[in-house]
Amino acid sequence: MKAVRYYSKLGNTKTIAESIAEGVGVSAVSIADEAELKEPVDILFLGGAPYANIMAPELRAYAEKLRPELVGKVVLFTTSNWSRRTVLALKKELKKKGIPVEEDYFYAHMLHINGRVQAAREFGARYRG
Ligand SMILES: Cc1cc2nc3c(=O)[nH]c(=O)nc-3n(C[C@H](O)[C@H](O)[C@H](O)COP(=O)(O)O)c2cc1C
Repeated sequence: MKAVRYYSKLGNTKTIAESIAEGVGVSAVSIADEAELKEPVDILFLGGAPYANIMAPELRAYAEKLRPELVGKVVLFTTSNWSRRTVLALKKELKKKGIPVEEDYFYAHMLHINGRVQAAREFGARYRG
C-alpha cells in the first residue's frame, strides 16, 4: 500500500504530487483535505514547498503527528524557487520520530513544473508494484 500526501498553496506541488501519484498508481491527497494518515502504508510520498524560507505550518504539523507505526518509509518531494530546505527539514523531523526516509527525493523548480511532470511520473513509477 502506498500513499501520496502534499501541501500546496499555489498548485505547483499539487501538480508534481499528482504526477508522482499517477506513476505510483494511486491518488494524491492534500493534507488540507485529510489532516491525518489513517491507514498503514509501506511508502508515504510527502511533499511541500518553502514560503519565506520555511515550510507551511500545516505540513510541519502533519509530519510531527505522523504515527511511525503507520509508515514503512517516506519518500519526499518539493518545489521551490531555489531552496530545498523543505526536504531537509522534513527529513530531520521524520528521522527524529524514527520514520525511515529515502535519501533520494524529487525536486521541481517552480518555473519548470510542466517540464517536470513526466520525470515525476517516472519517479513514482519506480515505486509501483
Ligand atoms: C510568499 C512566498 C514565499 C516564498 N518563499 C520562498 C523561499 O523562501 N525559497 C524558495 O526557494 N522559494 C520560495 N517561494 C517559491 C515557492 O516555494 C514555489 O513557488 C513553490 O513551487 C510553491 O509551491 P506551491 O505552488 O505548491 O504552493 C515562495 C513563494 C511565495 C508565494
